[in-house]
Amino acid sequence: MDFTLLATSYNLDLGSIGQGQRTERYLSDLETCFYDLSSYQQHLLHANPLVYTVSSIEPGQGDGDLHYGLGVLYPGKIGDEYFMTKGHYHAWRPAAEVYIGLRGQGMMLLEQEHSDQVELLPLGAGNIVYVPGHTAHRTMNTGSEPLMYIGVYPAKAGHDYQSLAKTNFRHKVVERDGKPTLIKRS
Ligand code: F6R
Ligand code: MN
Repeated sequence: MDFTLLATSYNLDLGSIGQGQRTERYLSDLETCFYDLSSYQQHLLHANPLVYTVSSIEPGQGDGDLHYGLGVLYPGKIGDEYFMTKGHYHAWRPAAEVYIGLRGQGMMLLEQEHSDQVELLPLGAGNIVYVPGHTAHRTMNTGSEPLMYIGVYPAKAGHDYQSLAKTNFRHKVVERDGKPTLIKRS
């Protein structure tokens, strides 16, 4: 256990948390995510913006330990599809997660692995989303300022991006009449 990580603080104006390990994802890292490939490639010809960062705090590695991370997801769109995270299952499938919205406006897409169950839930300042185990989850920024949230999850959850690499979720979320709308992929 790293006792120096028992207390930390976050700063939403800086989008930073304590001594968090920061991961950066640029548009070019998300090539399997956006359905409108020509808009995606067009955008990349002009710029490769930072789409999101995650800064994680990992005090312990035991079976009962928890990790948490501050996510900062910037606003933007590729065609009619919002800037989003890659999305993942937890490698240890039973692991659930709690997302706490701190600033901005967004949504979470949840898809259960072994059923057709799908949810599109608000995640912004004032929202909390419980992600059950065995559930793929992805975050989208549907607003015009950075979306900031904290996710808390079992230390042994891990990430499984591979299982989603081909399907890229069964649904996409696009803007229709100014609103986030869930559409089943054909
Ligand atoms: C951890 C978790 C979040 C995400 C973050 C970035 O289990 O769900 O901290 O890691 O929102 O999303 P991904 O990992 O899908 O790039
Ligand atoms: Mn997760």
